[in-house]
Amino acid sequence: MVSFIARVTAASYLSLSIFAGTSFGQNITDDSHFYGQSPSVLPSPEAPGTLSWQTAHAKAVALVSQMTLAERANITVGYTPSTGCSGVTGTVPRLGWEGLCLADAGQGLRATDFVNAYPAGISVGTSWNKALTLQRATHMAAEFKRKGVHVLLGPVVGPLGRVALGGRNWEGFSNDPYLSGSLVHDTIKGIQNAGVISSVKHFIGNEQEENRNPITSTASGGIGGGGLSSSNPANISQTVESVSSNIDDKTMHELYLWPFADAVHAGSASVMCSYQRINNTYGCHNQKTQNDLLKTELGFEGFVVSDWGAQHAGIASAEGGLDMAMPNGGFFWGKDGSNLTTFVKNGSIPEARLTDMATRIVAAWYQLGQDRDFPPVSLPLQYNVSHKAVNARDPASKPILLQGAIEGHVLVKNVNKALPFKKPKLLSLFGYDAVAPPRVNLVDANFNYKFGFLSNTDFFWRDAFAPPFTNPGQIGPNGTLIVGGGSGGTAPAYISAPFDALQERAYADGFQLLWDFHSTAPLVDQASDTCLVFINAFATEGVDREGLHDDYSDDIILNVASACSNTIVVIHNAGIRLVDTWIEHPNITAVMFAHLPGQDSGRAAVSLLFGDESPSGKMSYTVARNESDYNVPIAKPADEFFFFPQDDFTEGVYIDYRDFDRKNITPRYEFGFGLTYTTFEYSDLSVSLVQNANTSRAAPESPIIEGGRESLWDVIATATAVITNTGDVTAKEVAQLYVNIPGGPVRQLRGFDKVEIAPGQTETVKFTLLRRDLSDWNVAEQAWVLQQGKYPVWVGASSRILPLSGELTIS
Ligand SMILES: *[C@@H]1O[C@H](CO)[C@@H](O)[C@H](O)[C@H]1NC(C)=O
Ligand SMILES: *[C@@H]1O[C@H](CO)[C@@H](O)[C@H](O)[C@H]1NC(C)=O
Ligand SMILES: *[C@@H]1O[C@H](CO)[C@@H](O)[C@H](O)[C@H]1NC(C)=O
Ligand SMILES: *[C@@H]1O[C@H](CO)[C@@H](O)[C@H](O)[C@H]1NC(C)=O
Ligand SMILES: *[C@@H]1O[C@H](CO)[C@@H](O)[C@H](O)[C@H]1NC(C)=O
Ligand SMILES: *[C@@H]1O[C@H](CO)[C@@H](O)[C@H](O)[C@H]1NC(C)=O
Ligand SMILES: *[C@@H]1O[C@H](CO)[C@@H](O)[C@H](O)[C@H]1NC(C)=O
Ligand SMILES: *[C@@H]1O[C@H](CO)[C@@H](O)[C@H](O)[C@H]1NC(C)=O
Ligand SMILES: *[C@@H]1O[C@H](CO)[C@@H](O)[C@H](O)[C@H]1NC(C)=O
Ligand SMILES: *[C@@H]1O[C@H](CO)[C@@H](O)[C@H](O)[C@H]1NC(C)=O
Ligand SMILES: *[C@@H]1O[C@H](CO)[C@@H](O)[C@H](O)[C@H]1NC(C)=O
Repeated sequence: MVSFIARVTAASYLSLSIFAGTSFGQNITDDSHFYGQSPSVLPSPEAPGTLSWQTAHAKAVALVSQMTLAERANITVGYTPSTGCSGVTGTVPRLGWEGLCLADAGQGLRATDFVNAYPAGISVGTSWNKALTLQRATHMAAEFKRKGVHVLLGPVVGPLGRVALGGRNWEGFSNDPYLSGSLVHDTIKGIQNAGVISSVKHFIGNEQEENRNPITSTASGGIGGGGLSSSNPANISQTVESVSSNIDDKTMHELYLWPFADAVHAGSASVMCSYQRINNTYGCHNQKTQNDLLKTELGFEGFVVSDWGAQHAGIASAEGGLDMAMPNGGFFWGKDGSNLTTFVKNGSIPEARLTDMATRIVAAWYQLGQDRDFPPVSLPLQYNVSHKAVNARDPASKPILLQGAIEGHVLVKNVNKALPFKKPKLLSLFGYDAVAPPRVNLVDANFNYKFGFLSNTDFFWRDAFAPPFTNPGQIGPNGTLIVGGGSGGTAPAYISAPFDALQERAYADGFQLLWDFHSTAPLVDQASDTCLVFINAFATEGVDREGLHDDYSDDIILNVASACSNTIVVIHNAGIRLVDTWIEHPNITAVMFAHLPGQDSGRAAVSLLFGDESPSGKMSYTVARNESDYNVPIAKPADEFFFFPQDDFTEGVYIDYRDFDRKNITPRYEFGFGLTYTTFEYSDLSVSLVQNANTSRAAPESPIIEGGRESLWDVIATATAVITNTGDVTAKEVAQLYVNIPGGPVRQLRGFDKVEIAPGQTETVKFTLLRRDLSDWNVAEQAWVLQQGKYPVWVGASSRILPLSGELTIS
């Protein structure tokens, strides 16, 4: 009852009529109750074939025009792969078109041999390094190509990270749309430079794992799982549909669609639609999101592929803009797409729609040059049988892997220069996360590391995807965490664990190393210069996290700290990890969030601990003092919406720091925060409008290009500031620019620049503000508009360390 009233109150606050339930107290059992909540937008637009797509589009039209209806339909559906591809499309043998291999995922090619495990999305986010992001993506995607993969199923910008406990937040870069958008742009440029199609995902509003898929009873679940909450009764008779993300239009544009616009602007040739519903229509059938937002407003040229099993209707998904059904057309489009042919023949869908699906798929293939010399698929189905060793690794990737791992680390506490180490004589090493997992090997026909559960040896990966949705726990107790779980899991060529790298260093530098990875209260040799404690925070696709800190790890830290006056904590965290249980302990002198560094984890940590390189990462999310400081809980089936779980995004754009700033909540570590081994001074902010920039309220008339109206990318203003390294070591600084768009959040990130500065030297950081960066979405006008008036602007080292301020006046 209470929550029902809250629902109505919140709804009227945002005046969103759809948020109000009607049949008080009685379970709604019929989906028709929700009809009309997501508007109908028909027809699904045909691929525009503009600008850089002209040639590929023309070639696709030519090839597709030779295909029969059945052949066109055949390439829109998946077939059971005879290889290790996550999915393969149908082929057109008559015309020699061999189809596409699609494979996971955004941090490396999953579940195979001879590939590298790159730093995960969260580490890319905390590096704030665009150039490195581009290089990582290029090197990673080159491995996909060498293995014959056409479509890389990533990167992730949805979930954005609305829910602190979200199981997949670590796959994305940041819960700030601007940071996420900047980094997804460079990631897609990198992937596609390597000749691989990127399928940016999950479109859209896929912000929690729980109830992401429909559940017909507790004994079964949809592909990919995402189950009922444990509080629900067993053996329900009616299907519980996927959770519905109810998102108003302004929030959609300013938050969740924003990074997808950057992805499309970068030329992403594919988008993956998501499992859950939006305004009670399934993501892969949603005419408003796919036909209107993606294919009209953003001018998307490529194809929409369903997440695996996310298709729940035949005609509706075709009309709703879905172009490819994975892993198969199943009941809806037919196993060879023949139902689609039927739909066309009996007039249920226009033939042009089917032709457009095929054209979009084939155009993407041409656009990436995959018609010329594309390597054959060399991903075997099983690895315990004889197979050709195809090395996809390039030695030139080594510095990219290491640098990515290093720059994803964020130093948050460093009392009296505890770090970097100065010629220690004795280091004591503790915590289950310091050592490599006991097994990186085949455990059955597949790899043990198939789904990134290396640090959870006793957990059966499938349990995260199917009932009873066992939660693997908050930590990976069996070894160092380099990646989260699920389809974003990686296949490391090796793992440099902290222990391994410290052993090497002990040999080279001649210090003594003691270690204990199992005791929760180890004895401490009082001659130790430092006690290092490595812990982790695990998260996986399929289930959301149970908490943001765990007592087991906190106990180890507190026990070591009680016996060691110089205790340093390093956390490998797949998402937000709270530290308030121990952060003020006087013996805890330094703390580093190491995130998910990939296979060069230990090597990276040691280079930072010993000061070979200065830390340069910054938080890409807010670390609160308490769980209760985060405003968005996981939505559960409740009240009359038991069979149709509702998730009302009533907080609007106020997630993470936008909410902390609005409510003036003091975080433990704010968005954008991170320390290093030197100090920087900021000076000389200059902000100005670009001469002759059109600052009219409405965006100048201009064509729709990939990503939206072209004039949204016009540069309206620029800013510069000067940074001086006032300390005594070389280090990189991420200077950040925040703007208050009148009427919007207190401040929003709208620029960042990472520069390396030697001691005593200065560098000028530069920011470019586009029309879209300074606009907000006007729902009535259905347009981005510039506010006329004063825009306060700040530049500094975090969202709360803002020594420089200025103003832009737009008139
Ligand atoms: C969802 O409903 C809200 C409120 O009516 C509307 O602003 C928004 O455009 C709708 N979005 C979709 C995708 O249906
Ligand atoms: C559809 O694709 C399958 C799988 O590649 C292929 O065996 C079949 O011949 C194709 N059908 C047509 C009509 O081309
Ligand atoms: C659910 O149904 C199964 C099979 O009918 C039965 O074995 C099980 O005991 C039931 N569980 C509950 C909690 O009723
Ligand atoms: C698809 O075709 C199969 C076989 O002809 C049929 O049983 C099924 O009902 C069709 N599905 C839809 C959604 O029309
Ligand atoms: C066309 O065929 C499909 C699949 O058999 C069926 O569901 C649909 O109702 C038919 N439509 C018409 C207009 O006959
Ligand atoms: C490979 O492993 C699977 C079990 O996971 C087994 O069924 C199969 O026989 C094995 N093949 C060989 C050649 O060992
Ligand atoms: C993994 O860690 C758990 C918890 O500490 C432990 O019970 C289990 O035995 C470990 N498994 C292996 C294979 O070491
Ligand atoms: C700090 O460590 C020392 C051991 O070096 C210990 O004696 C002291 O009690 C610790 N302080 C706290 C607050 O636990
Ligand atoms: C959060 O606040 C609750 C209630 O005040 C308290 O019980 C809990 O210990 C706090 N958690 C942390 C991590 O400080
Ligand atoms: C809705 O149905 C569920 C499952 O049968 C039941 O547990 C719940 O109490 C029902 N809710 C209402 C409001 O009737
Ligand atoms: C700026 O754009 C607006 C809106 O399209 C247009 O009316 C106006 O003429 C433009 N101003 C200049 C100076 O081009």
